[in-house]
Amino acid sequence: MTLSKILVTGGAGFVGSHACVALIAAGFRPVVLDTLVNSDPRSLERVGRICGVQPQLVRGDVRDATVLDRVFAEHGVDAVLHLAGLKAVSRSVSDPLGYYDVNVAGSLALAQAMERAGVRTLIFSSSATVYGDIARSPIRESASYAAVNPYGRSKVMVERMLADLSRSDPRWGIACLRFFNPIGAHESGLLGEHPQGPPDNLVPYVSQVAVGERGHVVVHGNDYETHDGTGVRDYVHVMDVAEGHVAALRYATLHRGLLTVNLGTGRGASVLDVIAAFERACGHRIAVHIGPRRPGDAPAYWADVQHAQDRLGWRARRSLDQMCADSWRWQLANPRGFDEPVPDFPVRA
Ligand code: WQD
Repeated sequence: MTLSKILVTGGAGFVGSHACVALIAAGFRPVVLDTLVNSDPRSLERVGRICGVQPQLVRGDVRDATVLDRVFAEHGVDAVLHLAGLKAVSRSVSDPLGYYDVNVAGSLALAQAMERAGVRTLIFSSSATVYGDIARSPIRESASYAAVNPYGRSKVMVERMLADLSRSDPRWGIACLRFFNPIGAHESGLLGEHPQGPPDNLVPYVSQVAVGERGHVVVHGNDYETHDGTGVRDYVHVMDVAEGHVAALRYATLHRGLLTVNLGTGRGASVLDVIAAFERACGHRIAVHIGPRRPGDAPAYWADVQHAQDRLGWRARRSLDQMCADSWRWQLANPRGFDEPVPDFPVRA
C-alpha cells in the first residue's frame, strides 16, 4: 500500500516536528518544507531516531511559488499540513507587514500552488488568538473573531480566505485548527521546544529557570480576576496537538468542505498552577518574582472542546503534570537544545 505523502510546512519547528512523529506513527510519510528561520533541521534527525523514518527536508519558503511547484511535482503530495508561520504576538505588533507577508501571503501562495497541483486537502494551524480577549470561556468555535494583534489578525485573514475558497470550490477539504497553548515535549526526551533567545512563553522560561539557566520567573501580574490572581490559559500537550492534526487530516481526506475546531484540553491553568506542576516534575522549587501585567495579555481563556470530540473523535489525553514532566525530561537531556549529541533513546529522566 502506498503511504500517503503529506507536505508539512514548518515541519522542523516545535509543533511541526511533533506532527511528523504523529504522521509517521499513523502510517503517513511527511516531507517537510521549512526556511529554518526559527527551527533546527536536527529536529528531523530526532524524528528519525524516534520513528525509524526521517522526513525529507526541502529548505525553502512557503511564499516561493517555484519552490512549491517543484515540491508538488517531485514528491507526489496527497495533502498538506500548513504550520509554517511567525507566531510571536509581541513581534507582530512591531513588524505587522512581516507577519502579514509570511502568514497571509505565504498561505495564499501555498493554496495557489495546491490548486495548480490539484491537491485540495489542507490542514491549517490557526490559533486561539483569533478570539481576542473578549470571548467568554470555555470558548466555542462559534465565538466572533476579535483578534487584538497583527498575529491574531493574520490568522483570522487566512481562516476567512480558506472559508471563501471552500465556498467557491466544493472539491476542497479544509480544517482550521485553533491551537490554545501547546507545551510539553515528546515522551522520549528527544524532541522539544528550544526557542532562540530569551523565551517569550511561560513554559520554556520556567524550564530554563528549573535547570538553572535563568534565575527566576517573572509572573506577569497577580491581580487578575482568577482563582489565584495570575493569568489562566488552556495548556495542551504538543503531542495531543500533533495527534489532533492527524485526526483532522483523516477527516478532511474523507469530507469535503471546511471544518474549524479548537485544540485544547477544556481546562484552564494559572501561571502559578503551571509553576507548581513544574516543581512536581523537577523536584525542586522554582524562584518567582511578581511583576506588572504584560500589555496585551488576556486575563483568562480556555477552550470548549466538544466540537473536536464530535467531529474528529479527538480529545486531549495528557495531563498538565505529564506536559511538565515531558518538558523537564527534554530540558534535562538537551540543555543546549539540538546542539546536544543525540541522547540515548528513550531518555531516562
Ligand atoms: C501564558 C501566560 C502570561 C511568560 C502564546 C503565544 C500565542 C499562541 C498561544 C500560538 C500568560 C504568563 C508568560 C512569563 C508569565 N501560540 N507569563 N511570565 O501569551 O497565552 O500566547 O501561546 O498560536 O502566539 O504568544 O502564552 O506562554 O506567553 O503566556 O507570567 O515569563 O503566562 O502573562 O498569562 P500566551 P505565554
